[in-house]
Amino acid sequence: MFSIPTLVSLLLLAVPKATLASPCITFDASFNLLAFGFDGKDYNAGTQDTWASGTATDITATGRPPFDGTNTTCYLSQFFNAVYVIDGDKANPSNVHIYDAGSKSWTTQQTTAGTFDPTSYHAILDHDTNVFYAVSKSELFFLDMSSLTAANSTPLPWVDVGATPYDKSYSPVMALAQNHIHFLDVPGNSAGMADIFVIHFSFFQPEAQSYSPSFPASHGQTTSFFQTTGVQQEFAFIPDDFSNVWVINVETNSTSTLAAPTSKDTGASYAASITALVQLDSTGAVSFIPYKQGDATTNSAQTWTTVKGLAALSPASSSSSAPGTSGSSGTGKPTGSASHSASVSQQTTGSPSSAMSTTVSVGVVAGAVFAALAAL
Ligand SMILES: *[C@@H]1O[C@H](CO)[C@@H](O)[C@H](O)[C@H]1NC(C)=O
Ligand SMILES: *[C@@H]1O[C@H](CO)[C@@H](O)[C@H](O)[C@H]1NC(C)=O
Repeated sequence: MFSIPTLVSLLLLAVPKATLASPCITFDASFNLLAFGFDGKDYNAGTQDTWASGTATDITATGRPPFDGTNTTCYLSQFFNAVYVIDGDKANPSNVHIYDAGSKSWTTQQTTAGTFDPTSYHAILDHDTNVFYAVSKSELFFLDMSSLTAANSTPLPWVDVGATPYDKSYSPVMALAQNHIHFLDVPGNSAGMADIFVIHFSFFQPEAQSYSPSFPASHGQTTSFFQTTGVQQEFAFIPDDFSNVWVINVETNSTSTLAAPTSKDTGASYAASITALVQLDSTGAVSFIPYKQGDATTNSAQTWTTVKGLAALSPASSSSSAPGTSGSSGTGKPTGSASHSASVSQQTTGSPSSAMSTTVSVGVVAGAVFAALAAL
């Protein structure tokens, strides 16, 4: 028979260490804000008119990924009203998870990753072709999602397009507009300049494109604004120094500015609709600033507001023992309170997720310890 201290320490060894998972935000094609991997669940925070005062609806459904990847990222496929998740499952990082926002159901698409590293990449989803382009370790790859709203039984290949002109010291700042991938903060380019990869011709333009007024030559985050139906023409650039948010218009080669987010977190990730830019910081806080295309005066006066329906939620815990990360840049910071609240919410709902396994293990341990103590 084990002594109580031995029993307790043996059982404690079996408890997975709870850490922050990787939540992400994106939209459905009606521009409801979707928040995945919060307290081990997924939420629909509704349309922009409700964000400042509204609630969020639990949309957690079976077949979802655990949102515990090292670099989990989410993308809206606007034409197909689908959300694609890269690296949503730490145990199977090469899977792409597909959320059909119409039927609210999940399927898992297998991919053959080859030399593409699905835990270390920067990616865009090309709006018109529904093809991912991603840079992983300075190599460019694509993954053709064709018209998928549910997984195909045949694995899809990450196709190696070739080397980028950049070495591995360049951390890509990639943004999509007009079927062109814009690379910011390229070594040797001055402020206000972007290198361009033309998707349809699969080549890097020899000359950098300049935009005016210029944005900083700095690392940062990006996300593209949508149009009602057509190709994306503008993207937001949030430099790591938070000196401003720049909106870069590739039709006019011009830029305008928005106020910097209240949360100056370089580990934050972003999503944009037609009329808003949304930030998810690495504590799980979600806030937004309204945006009106072509109206610089209105835009420059806007301020950031918390998305109220998501305010009480935290990034989910997972049973991994690695340091937690959050957002597409993977520099999130673990927080104990987030793990705690995730456990509490899992105990009361028992929805399927990796967070649940943490809670179950804790419950089993507690039960065993109580049983052992009661047997004394
Ligand atoms: C996420 O991907 C980026 C880009 O490749 C990489 O720099 C970073 O190290 C990755 N994060 C983790 C935690 O692996
Ligand atoms: C934007 O720049 C490109 C290349 O420098 C040029 O061909 C195009 O005419 C410019 N567009 C406008 C609206 O100035």
